[in-house]
Amino acid sequence: MTKHTLTIEYTEVSGMSQLSDGDRQLLKEAWKACELAYAPYSNFKVGAALVLDNDLVFNGNNQENAAYPSGICAERVAVFTAASQYPGVPIKSMAVVAKTEIFNLSSPVTPCGACRQVIAEYETLSGAPIRILLQGNSDKIWIIEGIANLLPLMFHGGDLKSTPNI
Ligand code: THU
Repeated sequence: MTKHTLTIEYTEVSGMSQLSDGDRQLLKEAWKACELAYAPYSNFKVGAALVLDNDLVFNGNNQENAAYPSGICAERVAVFTAASQYPGVPIKSMAVVAKTEIFNLSSPVTPCGACRQVIAEYETLSGAPIRILLQGNSDKIWIIEGIANLLPLMFHGGDLKSTPNI
């Protein structure tokens, strides 16, 4: 029997002033998108913005639906929009922010499992880690270098292409 331990890493900074211009700009884009979220059922607004390798920026926000599961998260709106218009162009960085008027989000909100899997797909495709910035209703910003820090032991396309044992 072998016990394995995986370590994940993230960096916390306090306030946008500690960020590079590019990171700050991306977070601001995510906040703009957040304001436009359609979240009448949860009142939990999420905004995402990403920058591609060609320096184009795409954003998205959560889109809810009266039939709840038909809604979609901000991250997937942004990622699918970018991938549908610029297939194969790697995502360099992504910012995700969240706010609600109902309570105080003192810590950043991390992407849900489905969004992590989607981000993993495009990171695997490009082979380069995606930098992920997260912020809630406070100065606290988390920086995550690569989806493996959010989705260790992820399932990816390579798992479907193993050598057949028959
Ligand atoms: N949501 C996102 O947009 N991204 C996440 O990573 C977590 C959850 C949305 C989905 C739903 O509209 C609302 O937040 C509450 O779950």
